[in-house]
Amino acid sequence: MNGSNPIQLAIFASGSGSNALRIIEYFSNRTDIRAALILTNNKTAGVRDHADRYGIPHIFWPAASLANSGKTIALLEKYQIQGVVLAGFLAKIPGYLLLRFPDRILNIHPALLPDYGGKGMHGIYIHQAVHAAGESVSGLTIHQVNAEYDSGKIIFQCRIPLAPGSSPTDIAQRILKYEHYCYPYIIDQYFSGLD
Ligand code: GRF
Repeated sequence: MNGSNPIQLAIFASGSGSNALRIIEYFSNRTDIRAALILTNNKTAGVRDHADRYGIPHIFWPAASLANSGKTIALLEKYQIQGVVLAGFLAKIPGYLLLRFPDRILNIHPALLPDYGGKGMHGIYIHQAVHAAGESVSGLTIHQVNAEYDSGKIIFQCRIPLAPGSSPTDIAQRILKYEHYCYPYIIDQYFSGLD
């Protein structure tokens, strides 16, 4: 994917957008890879404020719009998007996007997949399950997105020991710090290395 034109990435996010912010910050001074568009399915997502601060276009894209393949592809083409990064995006990626961006959609999951993944495993539910199982180690997984939740090819994993007595909230906060550190770097390596 290297060439004279920058690699244009879209970030899809639904929530507070702390990962999206780190990604935006990381690439803000880069000319070869750019966070070119933020797409959110939540009108109140904090990610919209982050995008404004960095002058990155953001757009509210509800389920009905995402279900519309022509409209969504046209939007991504308008911004010359070549890859998509999910950062807390709580909707399934439709098949037409998987076909349009083969191996070019990444997600981060705050646990060691294949454990603690799949439908319903998002947010605090993941960390509650890890806690209930008495795990002393959790972690994060960065993976390609495919048609099933949390089951695409794993690109990177980081094991993170948990302090004894950690609550689900403690676990979430601890892992999120590592997400902020790892995700931009792995996105950089991944998309720089694609043909
Ligand atoms: C992160 O824990 C991420 O791994 C998961 O959703 C959370 C999003 O948090 N997919 P934020 O919106 O980036 O703060």
